[in-house]
Amino acid sequence: MCGIVGYVGEQPALDVVMQGLRRLEYRGYDSAGVAVLDPGTHALNVARKAGKLANLDAELAETELPGSLGIGHTRWATHGAPTDRNAHPHRDCSGAVAVVHNGTLENFAELRDGLTERGHHLASDTDTEAVAHLIEERYDAAGTGADLAAAVRAVAKELDGSFVLVVAHRDQPDLVVGARRNLPLVIGLGDGENFLASDVTAFIAYTREARAVDQDQVVELRREGVRVTDLDGNEVAGDTYHVDWDTAAAEKAGYEYFMLKEIEEQPEAVAETIGGRLGRDGRLRLDELAISDEDIRGFHQVVIVACGSSYHSGLVGKYAIERWTRLPTQVEIASEFRYRDPVVGRDTLVIAISQSGETADTLEALRHARQQGAWVMAVTNTVGSSIARESDAVFYTRSGPEIAVASTKAVMTQLAAVYLVGLHLAQVRGTRDGDEVRSHYADLAAIPDLIAETLTRMDPMRKVAREISAAERVLFLGRHVGYPMALEGALKLKELAYVSAEGFPAGEIKHGPIALIEQGTPVVVLATRHALAPKLVTNVQEIKARGARTIVIATDGDESATPYADDLIRIPDTKSLLSPLLTLVPMQVFSAEFAMARGLDVDQPRNLAKSVTVE
Ligand code: AGP
Repeated sequence: MCGIVGYVGEQPALDVVMQGLRRLEYRGYDSAGVAVLDPGTHALNVARKAGKLANLDAELAETELPGSLGIGHTRWATHGAPTDRNAHPHRDCSGAVAVVHNGTLENFAELRDGLTERGHHLASDTDTEAVAHLIEERYDAAGTGADLAAAVRAVAKELDGSFVLVVAHRDQPDLVVGARRNLPLVIGLGDGENFLASDVTAFIAYTREARAVDQDQVVELRREGVRVTDLDGNEVAGDTYHVDWDTAAAEKAGYEYFMLKEIEEQPEAVAETIGGRLGRDGRLRLDELAISDEDIRGFHQVVIVACGSSYHSGLVGKYAIERWTRLPTQVEIASEFRYRDPVVGRDTLVIAISQSGETADTLEALRHARQQGAWVMAVTNTVGSSIARESDAVFYTRSGPEIAVASTKAVMTQLAAVYLVGLHLAQVRGTRDGDEVRSHYADLAAIPDLIAETLTRMDPMRKVAREISAAERVLFLGRHVGYPMALEGALKLKELAYVSAEGFPAGEIKHGPIALIEQGTPVVVLATRHALAPKLVTNVQEIKARGARTIVIATDGDESATPYADDLIRIPDTKSLLSPLLTLVPMQVFSAEFAMARGLDVDQPRNLAKSVTVE
């Protein structure tokens, strides 16, 4: 969704805030804006511009915004079109208050009507602007010595929906106030300076000490300290944590796009995620899961909830968990799960998979599951995220920051995570003996090198992607664990290249989708070695006979589909159940190359945002 930054310290606030926004631009790029408090004139000077941050940068080239207290915003539009006047920060009637907001306010129409009746003039179409005017009312009503944090707390109580607010007031030269409900807000703790941001990447260049802000809490950020309260003004304690990656991890390191860098980082990301999991006793150890063996033995079903690419990781998880544990496992799109009155209870393990840990649909699904008494385990890449904090147990994928909107290395580590979780459940429940668990773990431990090898073989995939980049329709076929990867390949291509792309179980094409095939239709087939490979080869023959251009991904040494492949992409051999950890790579490379050949920005595809914090 939107990215938010707040800063108070000794440095030029504009530089700090703009740098933070650059790091957060993946969260939304419909418009951007900043407000900086001028210590000389006590004016809150605002600059804002529709479009990407570069437009604001160009605007600021002509403008001076002196001061060492500032707030900033990069927007993914919800209420109001992505125009200059709807760009944040928004101000009250007199320009005393500036507010940036991430989220959506469900009662905004009512709030705006009330404000208009009380004589306020609202200049934008946003829900956010109402907040600035409400704070103005509360603050001004308190008179001399008014307390900005108290005004924000009072207003927060009036708001329905989700929000992170960061607020500055021209009479408060040493105070930025933040508030959160349902969406992420993190404090960066510096020396003589402090930060607020949607995620730690915004301030990682200045400090690696952080504290997450909890539900319905308000932060008072000053140069020399931070105070956090609940909405009634009671101070609340919280844990600080050290961020164990640095600025370099959040930079492009010479790649044209973050996505390309993140694809290349996958061997290391998987190695980080699976490494060191075997104890001295030879047993797999996922200590962080904190669910007792007794509880694990009591589960009768597993339900995986997730959205988008994370859902595809969940689909792979179903194959592994059912194979190794024999526990019935369902995978459900989080936005559907929540509203169909699902049958879950104390005997259910719900696994919520989310890179960002902030996806609203997944968060609501896990809340619903917990209300029904189910155990919830998060698989997430984001320490301190809402999904991590609201779950009973957390498995952190260790892919490092993922900036490109299209998820690559995070999905890869989610796959590694679901295999590990499946093995752990099997070990505890005794459905696989120690030797077998160790053997599967050894296969997983070999995967980083195999991903690295796969990455070296992607030139033919890039070549074919460029050759067919004018195509307006691409189909993806797979069977068994190849099917979720076909879905993932199609999603990646849709989101990056804006072409119609669909993934099918290969056996299903004769039930309808084969009608889509005409002379030259590109079809990517995940034909890696597994028990169903002969059936898949038959499917390749069927589409080839109808004129498809077949782009076949095959395992080293397997020639069964070679006669029917127009383009043959080879990947190394591994156990067929683990093959998604390798077939994911050509899916990513294909979509990125295809989109770049069409001249598109693969880091910031249109209409999308990295973290979707609205339902
Ligand atoms: C992936 O490329 C997409 N950008 C998107 O489908 C994403 O996986 C989905 O929005 C879920 O996000 P999450 O993992 O942060 O919950």
